[in-house]
Amino acid sequence: MNSFTYHIPTEVVFGRDSETLTASLIQKYGGSRVLIVYGGGSAVRSGLIEKLETQLSEAGLAWEAMGGVHPNPYLEFAREGAKRAREKEADFILAVGGGSVIDTCKAIAIGAANPDTDIWKFWTREETVTKSLPVGVVLTISASGSEMSDSAVLTDMESGVKRGLGTSFNRPVFAVLNPELTYTLPSYQVACGVADIMMHTMDRYFNPDTTNQLTDEIAEALLRTTIHNGLTAVKNSHDYTAMSELMWCGSLSHNGLTGLGGKKDFAPHQLGHELSARFDVAHGASLSAIWGSWARYVYKTDVNRFARFAANVWGLRGSSEESAAIAGIHATEEYFTSIGMPVNFVSLGIGVQPEEALREMALGCTYQRTRKVGTFKVLDVEDIYEIYKAANCG
Ligand code: NZQ
Ligand code: ZN
Repeated sequence: MNSFTYHIPTEVVFGRDSETLTASLIQKYGGSRVLIVYGGGSAVRSGLIEKLETQLSEAGLAWEAMGGVHPNPYLEFAREGAKRAREKEADFILAVGGGSVIDTCKAIAIGAANPDTDIWKFWTREETVTKSLPVGVVLTISASGSEMSDSAVLTDMESGVKRGLGTSFNRPVFAVLNPELTYTLPSYQVACGVADIMMHTMDRYFNPDTTNQLTDEIAEALLRTTIHNGLTAVKNSHDYTAMSELMWCGSLSHNGLTGLGGKKDFAPHQLGHELSARFDVAHGASLSAIWGSWARYVYKTDVNRFARFAANVWGLRGSSEESAAIAGIHATEEYFTSIGMPVNFVSLGIGVQPEEALREMALGCTYQRTRKVGTFKVLDVEDIYEIYKAANCG
């Protein structure tokens, strides 16, 4: 087996009514003055915010609430949040929502703990995070895995750059996972979540150094479980079994477990970030729209790996390794289509893009030729351009 480090400090409280423990969890992790952060209003409409505010007040916690996080969240909002947290002397940040809210809270927590440094400097790697405030999560959408992950993704609207930061300071101290809080999700967002959960797993599964058997078996089981329950969940977001399986798959897909011992690839994620920064499309949709084109471009790097994926995830075998590999890619795209997820730019809703836009996105993805992306096959600006070109159709 390849060596690895695994340290996931997030306390998970899973199941019906688990959000009723939020105040006691905040106290357990030392919070007394809480900044509650939420998104565009779904958590207000469901009554969740009011319930949490009442609960915190009854527990004697001081709190201040701040709504309005945009999907694919903005750096500017996080800056404002950090300012508010400092003004109110908050010692705990509570995220109520999905990846966008959680990532904003991670940034607010870092910003509040480092008042003399602009938040973005941590994202551009000019500064290293050495302290932060604790963040707790009440999750309302199964998708990003941010509730247990070490990363946070922000978009700087000024430069149009969407960028992630990975640091152990980004791991939330607790995550409250009540599948019933996801019942109000529209089918499209459920499907975006399914795509994202699959991609967190696949972006680890396709890597150049796969020797850890248990890691691979966990990844394949997680993919089968997500695929199976995803079909039910997009049709009925009130199915407790399907929504709860998805919720746990989402958290495990991105806390590191499905890639232990391997080098993360994450090229489709990097290609997708350009799409969501430029066109403000949902993160999960940006990934499914690009994955098939990425897979067809890279599969020859390790045909056996793709053939194994086809066999163990989709139950498909071909007359040759190559035909099995292709069948697995095709099955994945068919599945995305069956749950309403795009598999190219036209179905993503951005239309066929001019050549110039493809070139600009490829440049953006490589930070103007200063980096390459991926590990399964290392992609340079020309490779990325070719993948965007292949996806630029209907
Ligand atoms: O803003 P509200 O009104 O709450 O509506 C949200 C939003 O429109 C809605 N929603 C959430 N819970 C709901 C609900 N609507 C009805 N009922 C509910 N229970 O869903 C929409 C999407 O929310 P968002 O938080 O944007 O979704 P997601 O969890 O997919 O997060 C996406 C963001 O996370 C980043 C993505 O890049 C993107 O910016 N990621 C973060 C990662 C991490 N930190 O580890 C990893 C991921 O790969 C990803 O990059
Ligand atoms: Zn993702």
